[in-house]
Amino acid sequence: MSTDTKKAASVGCGVIGYSWALKFAMAGYETYAWNRSEASSEGARANVEESLKSLIKNEVLTEEDAQKVRERIHYTTSIEETVRDAAFIQESSAEHYEVKHELVKEIEKYAPADTVIASSTSGLLVTEIAKYAEHPERFVGGHPYNPPHLIPLVEITKGDKTCDSAVERAKAFYKEIGNEPVVLQKEALGFICNRLQMALYREVCNLVMNGVCTVEDADKAVTFGPGIRWGIMGPSLVFELGGGKGGVSGLMNHLNDSITLWLNDMADWKEFPKEWAQVAQDGVNEELKNRAPETGNTRESLEEYRDKMLIQLLKMHGKL
Ligand SMILES: NC(=O)c1ccc[n+]([C@@H]2O[C@H](COP(=O)([O-])OP(=O)(O)OC[C@H]3O[C@@H](n4cnc5c(N)ncnc54)[C@H](O)[C@@H]3O)[C@@H](O)[C@H]2O)c1
Repeated sequence: MSTDTKKAASVGCGVIGYSWALKFAMAGYETYAWNRSEASSEGARANVEESLKSLIKNEVLTEEDAQKVRERIHYTTSIEETVRDAAFIQESSAEHYEVKHELVKEIEKYAPADTVIASSTSGLLVTEIAKYAEHPERFVGGHPYNPPHLIPLVEITKGDKTCDSAVERAKAFYKEIGNEPVVLQKEALGFICNRLQMALYREVCNLVMNGVCTVEDADKAVTFGPGIRWGIMGPSLVFELGGGKGGVSGLMNHLNDSITLWLNDMADWKEFPKEWAQVAQDGVNEELKNRAPETGNTRESLEEYRDKMLIQLLKMHGKL
């Protein structure tokens, strides 16, 4: 990766790509935001403006900072202009191999041969995405969580031909722009966090369907119980403290027999029951009715509340 150019490329600026472009520009990179059409570029620009408004309102950026960020983002429909001399390329196009193969071919025509190309893919294999690449060794997965300009985690994955130096360069780049990168040592469907989220959500479904609690109470239990701790430290560190002098090992040894009883009673099915989607929606609709307006009781105000709280927490973590 060339260190003096300070140019980053976001290829495919929909929901995820516009937010990456904003993140790169906030970190000081001259950012090229590519879309297929002028109309999509306008959509990306509108999303950037909306997010800048929220960042100003929540005192992450001043009007002056926001103007500098705005000026660093160049919207274009030219792949050549986007990736030429780029120090880092993030691809966030549609989740189909054919689309990504076509873009990879275009990107490689103009990108420096050693620039890392990271794909935001949620579920495709890096090996397959780079299958026809001239330089498959520089491809990594760089999986963000929505919205990437706020959520620090990025999960880095490797394909069969990815070289260690590409992983190291991707990690260094993400760290530099304020992400918290985690490298997966092996490919795992759903990466780390989608697996963790679904393990928890399977049990939420199980508890609700078995009449143990409502959707609202499960949400409250997480928000005001373990969830509030997880926003500060991960589950093993939480248990390190929960185990007192014995630490996490003491806690696991002490509670093992009891935990085994719970685990044997918990869900281990592999597919959500068909009726769950509607049960969850009805539960959420009811929950929203019971929330105070200032904590969000419509989808829009809930999103605003989430961003406000997220920003406060990220500031305390030193991530904004
Ligand atoms: N949405 C999420 O929560 C989320 C989270 C993490 C990762 N991702 C991944 O990020 C990537 C983008 O997802 P998104 O949610 O931003 O999708 P999106 O539909 O909002 O954006 C996709 C972008 O790809 C472009 N595109 C679509 N078809 C194309 C084609 N044939 N050729 C070139 N460009 C094309 C679109 O114009 C758009 O700019 C996907 O790989 C997805 O798996 C999404």
